[in-house]
Amino acid sequence: MWGYYGAMKAQGEDKNLKKIVGLAAADLVKDGMTVGIGTGSTAAFFIEELGRRIRDGLSIRGVPTSYQAKLMCHKHGIPLLDPSLVDRLDIAIDGADEIDYSLNAIKGGGAANTMEKVIAAMADEFVIIVDHSKLVEKLAVSFPVPLEVVPAALSFVMRRVREIGSRPELRMAVKKAGPVVTDNGNFMVDLYFDEAPDVYRLDRMLKSIPGILENGLFLGMAHKALVAWEDGVEVMLAGPKD
Ligand code: A5P
Repeated sequence: MWGYYGAMKAQGEDKNLKKIVGLAAADLVKDGMTVGIGTGSTAAFFIEELGRRIRDGLSIRGVPTSYQAKLMCHKHGIPLLDPSLVDRLDIAIDGADEIDYSLNAIKGGGAANTMEKVIAAMADEFVIIVDHSKLVEKLAVSFPVPLEVVPAALSFVMRRVREIGSRPELRMAVKKAGPVVTDNGNFMVDLYFDEAPDVYRLDRMLKSIPGILENGLFLGMAHKALVAWEDGVEVMLAGPKD
């Protein structure tokens, strides 16, 4: 089945709350830091604010998670390092499509989940920034789990993910005929579930299917989340990590 993820993303979103949390995230960035820079409309507000602070004298280096982040950083005067040349970051700040109260998240609505995961893993501190509409009791009920899939493996991956109980949809492009093609030249497949899956088990199963480059489950990765509500920004902390 083919699907268009963007229509779902538009529901319940509040641009003003995204801006508030994007600006709040900039307070976490200190002089001299190397910073992983996320993708999406919330991260865009963070990038804009970082650019403003750089013009005021802040000295940092950014490492982008996507072409979108790279182009926006360039526009706002943020000096960049190529991710392939970096093995550690002081902090990475990124949006999410869903986040639960343990700070597990779904990402990949912008088709950038592979590099977003690499950059999150590089960071001493990974911070997710969201408006409260993204906070859920259980992941993958309202939003699908995105997969980046090597094109030649598409039919095989579709068969295997059906066998594990999901309804996969190949993500279709807007303003381009055919499927979304990621920054890495791959397809995106979104997995829908009738009931909340056990995300740890699902993550293990997806990792065992050849042809899936990376899935959009970010389990146990975030150290902190900033959540924007109408009356302020809530800071949520993850439990201790091994
Ligand atoms: C990009 O692939 C995603 O992981 C985004 O970080 C996520 O979709 C959040 O996007 P918005 O900030 O636009 O809601």
